[in-house]
Amino acid sequence: WPKFAPIIDAILRLKEERGATILAHNYMTPEIFNCVGDITGDSLKLAQVAAEAEEDIIVQAGVHFMAETAKILSPEKTVLIPDMEAGCSLASSITGADVQRIKAAYPDYPVVTYVNTSAEVKAYSDICCTSSNAVQVVEAIAAQWDTDTVIMIPDEYLARNVAAQTDIKILTWKGACEVHEQFTPEDIDALREAHPDAVILTHPECPPEVMARADFAGSTGAMASYVSEKSPKKAILITECSMSDNVAVENPQTTFVKPCNLCPHMKRITLTGIYEALRDLKHEVEVDPVIAEKARASLQAMLDLPK
Ligand code: 13P
Ligand code: SF4
Repeated sequence: WPKFAPIIDAILRLKEERGATILAHNYMTPEIFNCVGDITGDSLKLAQVAAEAEEDIIVQAGVHFMAETAKILSPEKTVLIPDMEAGCSLASSITGADVQRIKAAYPDYPVVTYVNTSAEVKAYSDICCTSSNAVQVVEAIAAQWDTDTVIMIPDEYLARNVAAQTDIKILTWKGACEVHEQFTPEDIDALREAHPDAVILTHPECPPEVMARADFAGSTGAMASYVSEKSPKKAILITECSMSDNVAVENPQTTFVKPCNLCPHMKRITLTGIYEALRDLKHEVEVDPVIAEKARASLQAMLDLPK
C-alpha cells in the first residue's frame, strides 16, 4: 500500500513516542490491519489483550463498545478511539434500563450479554460472551445457576444460532447486526450454485437460515483460523468486507469470492483518524467507575471461563 506509506510511518513513529499499542479488529481495512495494528483479531482476543496490555495508551481500531471494553478491563490506561461515532446496531438496540426490566421480569434466569453492548448493559448482566464462546458461556452459566433457561441479549440471530447447538432454552431480544442480517438464504443458494467448489463460512450474527446453509460458522477469528488450517482452494466469507481482504493476505493459496457487506461503523476508523488520535491524545473513552466495576464483573466472568 505505497500511497499510505507516509501516514503509516508517521503513525508508527508516534506510537513509539507515546508508548501506545494499537488493537485492530478483523474488520479494519487492510492498511490498518496489516500495517499499524499491533494486535489483531476478533472481539474476544482484543478483550483478552486489553486486559493484559503493558502499554499506558491503547488505541482501539474498532468500534466504541470495543474501546469501552478495553477501558473497563484496563481502567488505569488511557483508551483512545479515532472516531467516537463508530457505533454498532446491536449496541444501540438495548439500554441498561431495558436489562433492568428483563431482570425484574425473569429473576431466575441469568442474563448473558453479547460484548457488542454498552458498559451499562454489561453492568446489569450476569456474564458476557462473544461469538467465539457463546455456546460455552450459555452452558456454563446455566450450570452455575442450575437452570435450563437463559436470557441472551441483544442479538436475536446469535441467540437462535446458539440455541440450535445446545439443549439450554434461550430467551432473547430483537437486536440484529445491520451487516449480517442482510444476508439471505437465497444469497447462499446462488453462491453455492455459482461456486460449487467453494467452502462457505458464515458469522453467527447471520440469520439461522443462512447459517444452516454454510459449511462452517464462527467468529471472525474462527473463520480466519479455518482458512489457515484447511487451506481451501476457494472460500466465501459471509461477513464484513475487510475480513476476506485481511485473510487473503495471509492465505495466498485460497481464492476468495467476496459477496460482502460493509460495516459503516467500522469504516469510520481510518489511518488519518488513528494518526490524529495519537497526535492529540483524543478521543479518550471514559466509563463511569461504578458502572465500570459492575461491567468488569460480567466481562471477567467470561474471561475466567476455562479456555
Ligand atoms: P467477532 O470478531 O467477535 O467475531 O465479532 C464480529 C463483529 O461483528 C464485531 O463487531
Ligand atoms: Fe456492530 Fe455488525 Fe458492525 Fe460488528 S459488523 S460493529 S456487530 S454493526
